[in-house]
Amino acid sequence: MTEHKTPSFSSKVGLILATAGSAVGLGNIWKFPYEAGQSGGGAFLIVYLICCLLFGLPMLMTELYIGKQSQKSAYGAFRKLSNNNRWQWMSWVCIITALLITGFYFEVTGWCFHYLFAAIGNSFKGMTAVTMQTHFAQLMSNKWALFGYSMIAVVATAGVLWFDVNKGIERLSKILMPLLLVMMILMVIRVLMLDGSHKGLEFFFKVDFSKITPNTVLAALGQCFLSLSVGLGALITYGAYMQKSQNITATSLQVVILDTAVAVLAGMIIFPAVFAFGVNPAEGPQLVFVVLPAIFEKMSFAWLSGVFFFLLLCIAAITSTISLMEVIVAFINEATAKTRHPLNRHKSVIIVSAMIMLTIGACVFREEIFNWSDDFTANILIPLNALAMTIFVGWFLPKKDLLEEFGKEKGFKHYFALCYLQIVRYFIPLTIVIIFLNGLGLWDAIQKLF
Ligand code: PHE
Repeated sequence: MTEHKTPSFSSKVGLILATAGSAVGLGNIWKFPYEAGQSGGGAFLIVYLICCLLFGLPMLMTELYIGKQSQKSAYGAFRKLSNNNRWQWMSWVCIITALLITGFYFEVTGWCFHYLFAAIGNSFKGMTAVTMQTHFAQLMSNKWALFGYSMIAVVATAGVLWFDVNKGIERLSKILMPLLLVMMILMVIRVLMLDGSHKGLEFFFKVDFSKITPNTVLAALGQCFLSLSVGLGALITYGAYMQKSQNITATSLQVVILDTAVAVLAGMIIFPAVFAFGVNPAEGPQLVFVVLPAIFEKMSFAWLSGVFFFLLLCIAAITSTISLMEVIVAFINEATAKTRHPLNRHKSVIIVSAMIMLTIGACVFREEIFNWSDDFTANILIPLNALAMTIFVGWFLPKKDLLEEFGKEKGFKHYFALCYLQIVRYFIPLTIVIIFLNGLGLWDAIQKLF
């Protein structure tokens, strides 16, 4: 029998960067702008920001806590903390959610690789947002090429996981984050100089409260969870790699701030450009991909800017796919550790890569599966997991341990901890239940009764 050993993050910075690396990715740069574009710009942004504070931050703390306390991945964490098998189903929901996300997430990472190669080959020269739409449509019709590009993402991710979490993830995240931020700020400055860009800023920052509907709230909530990588156990795995002395609250706060900053910067790049180029903001998943290359055409050092940005985007996507795949790898590794056929890290990586190829294939060859898994995970599975995890931590784990972790001596930390506890016990579960009831039409029915 081989002993399952939990690796650990060697430094505080490494932990924050790896968690931020998981959080910052296509969710921020690809999905956030298109969701905001479809849900009324400013109306979406404000709901999104509130969601990050009231739901995202506490959920991040909750997942890291489950991992840190149990020192297990999503597979063993619930059983270990509850001392029974009754919560084991949650591990399975986590794994299914992670698998469903891999399909569309790796596919879009494949798009990024295509754009990187196209940028290197100078294929965007002279292109406008309109001709970019044709380019995108052509890419979408070439299914095998799409599948091939996604395979690059699978190989890159599997490669990093093959060589152990610590070295791989930390090393990558340390270089990436500052570079990405600087590049995005330069792009914001450039697009704001375009004619007509102010309309985009207005669209993104002006809040029209009449546009906020229950659907906006559900979309913003799902987007906030996906963007922060919560609701599928990815951060349980990272929490398990935390050392005792590492602080959950501080890590979570920094990650939420960074993640939200990247999403807002993405909006500040995309929307001014969308209006300057006359693109429809509600265009959907292709929005970012038709607008970005056209932006580089307007920048000095067009070739270099394009190549550099798409390279950063690919790396940002890979640091996210790493944590996504790590959930499943750690699960298989831990689930088989005490059996007669333990699957070590390398074998698990190979098996998970094969599974992911299937989910990618389904998404690439069937567009409806792509759309369905994107919507179903963000709007149903992730909120459902969040509901279960908050009930688990808020109601079934000892309050004493929670306060021990988050602040037990009187003072600001203690009040923050108490506030966190109330949010996890009442606010998040109740709100998610109400949102689901509303989705089922029950809310309308209840209102009609009175
Ligand atoms: N948070 C990542 C992003 O915004 C997506 C992700 C979700 C990664 C869940 C890992 C786990 O791109």
